[in-house]
Amino acid sequence: MSAPITDDISFDEFDEIRSPKKEATDFEKISQTVLSRRSLLGKGVAFGATAFVMGTTGLSPIMARAESSSRLKFEQVAANDLDTITVPKEFDWHIVSTWGEPLWSNSIPFDQTTRGTAASQELSVGDNNDGMALFQDGDKNILVSNNEYVNQSIIYGNRESRKPETADDVNKGMAGHGMTVTEIALHDGKWAIVVDSPYNRRITANTPIEISGPARGHAMMKTAADPEGVLALGTWNNCGNGRTPWGTYLTCEENFNGYFSSSDENYQPSADLKRYGVGNKDWGYAWATVDDRFDISKNPTEPNRFGYVVEFDPSNPKSALKKRTALGRFKHENAELVVADNGQVVVYLGDDERGEFLYKFISAAKFIEGGDNSSLLDDGTLYVAKFDDDMTGKWLPMTPETTGMTRAEISILTRQAASKVGATTMDRPEWVAVNPNKTEAFVALTNNKNRGKKPNAGGDEAPVGGPNPRAENQYGQIVRWTPANADHTADSFEWDLFVVAGNPAVHGDAYAGSKNITAENMFNSPDGLAFDASGLLWIQTDGNYSNKKDFAGMGNNQMLLADPETGDIKRFMVGPKECEVTGFAWSADRKTVFVAIQHPGEKGNSHYPEGGTTVPRSTVIGISRKDGDAIS
Ligand code: FEO
Ligand code: CA
Ligand code: CA
Repeated sequence: MSAPITDDISFDEFDEIRSPKKEATDFEKISQTVLSRRSLLGKGVAFGATAFVMGTTGLSPIMARAESSSRLKFEQVAANDLDTITVPKEFDWHIVSTWGEPLWSNSIPFDQTTRGTAASQELSVGDNNDGMALFQDGDKNILVSNNEYVNQSIIYGNRESRKPETADDVNKGMAGHGMTVTEIALHDGKWAIVVDSPYNRRITANTPIEISGPARGHAMMKTAADPEGVLALGTWNNCGNGRTPWGTYLTCEENFNGYFSSSDENYQPSADLKRYGVGNKDWGYAWATVDDRFDISKNPTEPNRFGYVVEFDPSNPKSALKKRTALGRFKHENAELVVADNGQVVVYLGDDERGEFLYKFISAAKFIEGGDNSSLLDDGTLYVAKFDDDMTGKWLPMTPETTGMTRAEISILTRQAASKVGATTMDRPEWVAVNPNKTEAFVALTNNKNRGKKPNAGGDEAPVGGPNPRAENQYGQIVRWTPANADHTADSFEWDLFVVAGNPAVHGDAYAGSKNITAENMFNSPDGLAFDASGLLWIQTDGNYSNKKDFAGMGNNQMLLADPETGDIKRFMVGPKECEVTGFAWSADRKTVFVAIQHPGEKGNSHYPEGGTTVPRSTVIGISRKDGDAIS
């Protein structure tokens, strides 16, 4: 997420102001060695920063064939700044669910004036829908969507301060987080919530969640309220997601740090807390005013219980939720799971912070179709990626031998473990997507204004080069890797830059982007990534929607489709004003793609979806073809 803490300061900037990092001006010089894109294109190289700096021409042949695709069979949507959804003319869209919509008939309908209460929010769709998945149980369809955070200026828009002012306000915010599970059904071509379905469920910042895996019971997980260190309350900042072949959903806790504060302003947070951005001030949520566990001067270990991947079975409304600590603790984006040929489960995981890392988990045991896979994500090895400039890379194992840390410590202080083994600092790893038709994976690196300027919070340098080819990277890129021997468990890979976003209408150098970026399809800040069944890559953006200067001509945040074989990219959808487009799910018949529209009007300039003077509200939408055919 990149939402504003005020209209002028983002959450990330807030953290950096609070914990300034040293400048590293040497890197600016390195950035100047990046040659212009156009001159490299003239030599037949698609994008040159990495290759040129390293004196190679090892770039993707795929990008050089960008014009040849014919698999993207729709008319590209033009960039725009309209306050609505725009899809290709062959498609229609409809709203499936909306923030504050009741899940039960005893829920209180959304109130435009108050924007709800804690009681109404607990029984309604949460705010800021993000990653999601659709499950089938017999003929029933169950949609699980993450509710990443709440838009304070909107949910508290009834208050002069636009901040929580009462305990009920704070509790309303806590209830707006977590996940929403709803049965949905199709009526006249439109999907809608089934009110009072036995599947309907809200999971919030107060739902009990078992701590599972290596960190369970460790001293760092114990609190006054949970002296055994085995049961946490709640999950929040649920960003991307994953799903398993054994029918469970994975939700990923991202910016968990922004909810903790200290009543003692002189409290000195530990270096380990600082590495994760936990400090004496929260991001305005004020949760510590209703529950001491968010006060780090009183409960310094509570933050160690967040920042995990949580697994549960959405088809059983009473199922327990488990924090799978073996998958590490960081600002998790999504969890892309693939079963390797030998049966081991591989989960790719990004840590979305400037200069943090890309990970993968490999299970110790093997997936057994129809068997008991309930502990597969509790035991295995975490690896972190090191990208070399010769277009190869390695997965570095994080074990007691390589880190000098215990398995529990590696699970809780994962960033510190990764720094010890020498991983590559990345431009904010967002979603990872694995091609279903080919042994390859893609990660969206959304942007990084600190690239070439500042090290990460652990002091690891962030030089320009490799998969992070541009200094002060405001546009982002998508990196692809191919595991050795076409095996996702392999410890080495080859990589390339699938697309480097940019603005060729404004820039003539590396900031113009790679050859598959044109004035017609340009975008910034790729974030959501997912493959459809046909092997096309869907790209969603969460970036600068000013439509001005470096971002002129890009319009609102959007969704694009890419053909990994050709590198061709076309814009498929544009979202309403000030939204982020994120989250994917498909209906079983592939006729509807579900997409999350998050935080429309986060700066006060949208009335999506209802128009007029209504409160802007996050929604899940369904997009289908007008001719009723499958999309993929
Ligand atoms: Fe919640 Fe990294 O986006
Ligand atoms: Ca984001
Ligand atoms: Ca995201």
